Amino acid sequence: MSTPRRHSIRDVARRASVSIATVSNVLNNPELVAEATRARVLAAIAELGFVPNGPARQLRAGRAQAVGVVVLDLANPFFTEVVRGVEDRVTEADGLVIVCSSDDNPSREARHLRMLEQQGVRGVLVTPAQASLDVLSDIRSRGTPVVLLDHTADDMCAVAVDDVRGGELAAAHLLELGHRRIAFLNGPDTIRQCADRRRGIHRAIQQAGLDPQECLLEVTLPALNADAGEASLNQLLAHRRPPTAIACVNDVVALGVLRGLRRRGMTVPDDIAVTGYDDVEFAGMLSTPLTSVRQPKYQLGHTAADLLLTESTEGTTHEHRQILFQPELVVRASSVVS
Ligand code: RIB
Repeated sequence: MSTPRRHSIRDVARRASVSIATVSNVLNNPELVAEATRARVLAAIAELGFVPNGPARQLRAGRAQAVGVVVLDLANPFFTEVVRGVEDRVTEADGLVIVCSSDDNPSREARHLRMLEQQGVRGVLVTPAQASLDVLSDIRSRGTPVVLLDHTADDMCAVAVDDVRGGELAAAHLLELGHRRIAFLNGPDTIRQCADRRRGIHRAIQQAGLDPQECLLEVTLPALNADAGEASLNQLLAHRRPPTAIACVNDVVALGVLRGLRRRGMTVPDDIAVTGYDDVEFAGMLSTPLTSVRQPKYQLGHTAADLLLTESTEGTTHEHRQILFQPELVVRASSVVS
């Protein structure tokens, strides 16, 4: 059966013998319409199965209810937990969430942002795919509030975690265990989280009186996923001075590294220690539970959504806030023999 044409507001007006404006009032300001007329319009809506155009209707009523979220990669369980925090806070405000992945691709991110803007969303939460925030400034200048999610800024609302501290925690832990040849599997410095974690790792090594050039074997991965993590082992383990520990930029990369080491018959941490970052739900469930830097994922999303709802309500009187959460190291069997 083919999908029937959706009826328009014009069809309803014709069926109820009223103007389009009267139908719009019944939908948005029913108190302005006489009861008998309102009943006739509602009957026409029911008979035709008319579905009001949500974004357009909300725009006319000045109360768009959808919130857009653009994250780097929804397949990464870190963002799934963050978005859950967003969704719960937006649902409390009778809103709904539209979620997109940028795949660390600035042009894909820009496309999503412009489509969300055209949908008339109440505002957008973004984990930027690049250092430049020009596209975000554009949509803000046209009236769509933006809050940075898992990113720092000084001229707009932003919620992040101190990733420099997080990188430092991971490296200091491995240094304390005696590791002096540490591989760091990271993403490009254009991703703020990656750049900050790298700075933290360097800071820990320097504070231990060591030279990062000597101590660190840095690899920039083509993607922040398990396959890229596993594939990097070919290069790492063939190095003339192979690492005794591998610090990973996130838990998904660490998962791939653990899979690759297991396929090579190597034991963790006896042959090589591994640390992750995020402490997503699976980290503690693995056959070799993963040492990881825990981020307050749900709280990150919930807080960012709260800032956005506040800004979209307060408008020009709003004062931007930047909130920085602290990470914590969760030590498990992938780095310390239990
Ligand atoms: O997207 C890369 C990483 O940045 C995620 O794994 C999470 O750690 C975020 O902060």
